Amino acid sequence: MQAVNIGILGLGTVGGGTAQVLQDNAAEISKRLGREVRVTAVCTSNANRAKELCPQAAVVSEPTDLVTREDVDIVVELYGGTGVAKEVVLQAIGNGKHIVTANKKLLAEYGNEIFELAEQKNVMVYFEAAVAGGIPIIKTLREGLAANRIHSIAGIINGTSNFILSEMREKGAAFADVLAQAQKLGYAEADPTFDIEGHDAGHKITIMSALAFGTPVNFGACYLEGISKLDSRDIKYAEELGYRIKLLGITRCTEKGIELRVHPTLLPESRLLANVNGVMNAVRVKADMVGETMYYGAGAGSLPTASAVVADIIDICRNIGAGQDNRVPHLSFQSSQVKPQKFLTIDEITSSYYLRVQAADEAGVLGKIATLLAEQGVSIEALIQKGVLDCTHAEIVILTHSTVEKNIKNAIAAIEQQAFVSEKVTMIRMESLHG
Ligand code: HSE
Repeated sequence: MQAVNIGILGLGTVGGGTAQVLQDNAAEISKRLGREVRVTAVCTSNANRAKELCPQAAVVSEPTDLVTREDVDIVVELYGGTGVAKEVVLQAIGNGKHIVTANKKLLAEYGNEIFELAEQKNVMVYFEAAVAGGIPIIKTLREGLAANRIHSIAGIINGTSNFILSEMREKGAAFADVLAQAQKLGYAEADPTFDIEGHDAGHKITIMSALAFGTPVNFGACYLEGISKLDSRDIKYAEELGYRIKLLGITRCTEKGIELRVHPTLLPESRLLANVNGVMNAVRVKADMVGETMYYGAGAGSLPTASAVVADIIDICRNIGAGQDNRVPHLSFQSSQVKPQKFLTIDEITSSYYLRVQAADEAGVLGKIATLLAEQGVSIEALIQKGVLDCTHAEIVILTHSTVEKNIKNAIAAIEQQAFVSEKVTMIRMESLHG
């Protein structure tokens, strides 16, 4: 069979890994695929790196010169972001090129436009590497679980945040100190906002939510709360109560609408997700027929991410002759069945909660707090007083049963108005992840 020709936009960490996987595993890949995959062009300003990694490829410095080439069948977009990457992906699709991308931001924010144009032009846009790096979660949601109605997805899908939380727990260190260490080790960017404030995880859970529930991608509906305000005291108290705190991306289909959110979350320490540490990623999917399944692996890094990129290249090669109707649809469901649905605001979601209240250590305080929670219909699951801070104040840690978020926020507002409360109440959502 005729070789398939690849053009790679960007030869950074993932681009370099992609070139390496295609070269080192060329024989294995062509045994599986029945044809050769050739890198015919790369777009980079580093000609020496290009010559070293892809000696046979033409080197161009303008993306437009790559996506218009006759000898490129599949464009691998590894620029990231939504500026040049968006322009060039739309241009490539317009020219009839298939796309493989690791760009979660592009798809979470502009995926609907991109998939629509791809269908018009009868090309495929594959994006396994955009979510959880080397874990084949896109293929799992679109194909492996295709017989199921998916109930919920919960994932540790940002390695940087997971590394920071793991270190804070193990060493009792403060957020800022661990972030500085992560930056030194190269796990966190010089500007870490995207990772630590939940944007990266938000893009990934937005994509998974669309695949799970048959909606257009809707990043605007995703609630984002990062880890930068987490106090190591709460990690310690949570641990004493048998919980770990993880940054989770969560999406859930409820009778009232779809929940789509990213935030620090208490998890019982016995759950698999609670034991995913360091930079590793994991995704738990709950579906009606198969029940609970878990996927674990490297969420970033040159070769793990390239593994996903090259798997997409192989899939596209296999599907080139299949025609639109016989391909796996971009968003899992036939495009005529991808319909806007109601997404819940964060105040409408249902969760249980961890609260830490700093209050005067005097008679009646606990009773009053319990009353204010009860007035909002919030039921207490556990309540402990964590020692006296300065002979006059105590920290009270409360775990609640499940309630609508608006109720807990009303109760917190009432608690904060009490004269005996000396600082803002800390609130962290909890998930039991019952099978
Ligand atoms: N920066 C991401 C992480 C990897 O820390 O997991 C790429 O999405």
